[in-house]
Amino acid sequence: MENTGLRIEKLTVSVASRKVLKDVSLDVSKGEVVALIGPNGSGKTSLAFTVMGHPNYKVENGRILLHGEDITSLKPHERAYKGIFLVFQSPPDIGGLPVGMFLQEMTTKRGIEASINDINNALLEVGLSDHYLSRNLYEGFSGGEKKRLEFAQALLFKPQILILDELDSGLDIEGVRLLTGKTRELAGSGVGVLYISHNIAALRLLRPNRVVVMMNGGVVAVDGLEILDVIEEKGYQGLV
Ligand SMILES: Nc1ncnc2c1ncn2[C@@H]1O[C@H](COP(=O)(O)OP(=O)(O)OP(=O)(O)O)[C@@H](O)[C@H]1O
Ligand SMILES: [Mg+2]
Repeated sequence: MENTGLRIEKLTVSVASRKVLKDVSLDVSKGEVVALIGPNGSGKTSLAFTVMGHPNYKVENGRILLHGEDITSLKPHERAYKGIFLVFQSPPDIGGLPVGMFLQEMTTKRGIEASINDINNALLEVGLSDHYLSRNLYEGFSGGEKKRLEFAQALLFKPQILILDELDSGLDIEGVRLLTGKTRELAGSGVGVLYISHNIAALRLLRPNRVVVMMNGGVVAVDGLEILDVIEEKGYQGLV
């Protein structure tokens, strides 16, 4: 049967002639939440950027498949149109535009019908009141507010594959509870989620289907939630 969702096959990737991913394979099927964890610099964000088609990340080997279709050589916007959405670890600062106008332009561009009411509701869902509609994008936004706004975009775009790169870093405890809950809801509606995090408490709330551990650019373990106990007790070195 054809795989529905994201399939990463034996991916080897270099940045500035340095190997950052080595033979990485990973599946995120429809409706599944897969957690991706690992030490700083282990390649998690590199994997997210490679899946999005960031031009700095050169695929030397392997393939990326979406619903069985090879998307390895597609442009970033083509992958976005096919339904892959990334919430950035550090949202880019592109100021100037009011949030409401930005979200309306972004949704229209992607052929999504979203009224200002829908946009307002998406903001409310992530705990941002309507005064954020007229605020300039990211200007003066706190770390947690940026993450909430990024997640609101994910709600509006209704992606098929959602990659969340440290969504929970900078979020307060209510925010973590709210957005891990929403992430689960999205998975419940069929979205495949790759959830990158250092936050063990958030991962326990999220209850991912699988936990994938990366170290030094490679996958070193794929396990259930119980692997978090080992890491909490012994650190990542406890796995090797
Ligand atoms: N554009 C780049 N130029 C040079 N090195 C890079 C570049 N992008 C990533 N790297 C290197 O690749 C390695 C993996 O980085 P990456 O950001 O993927 O790690 P990470 O697992 O997301 O870490 P963290 O948990 O700190 O977010 C790091 O050593 C990083 O310095
Ligand atoms: Mg990272």
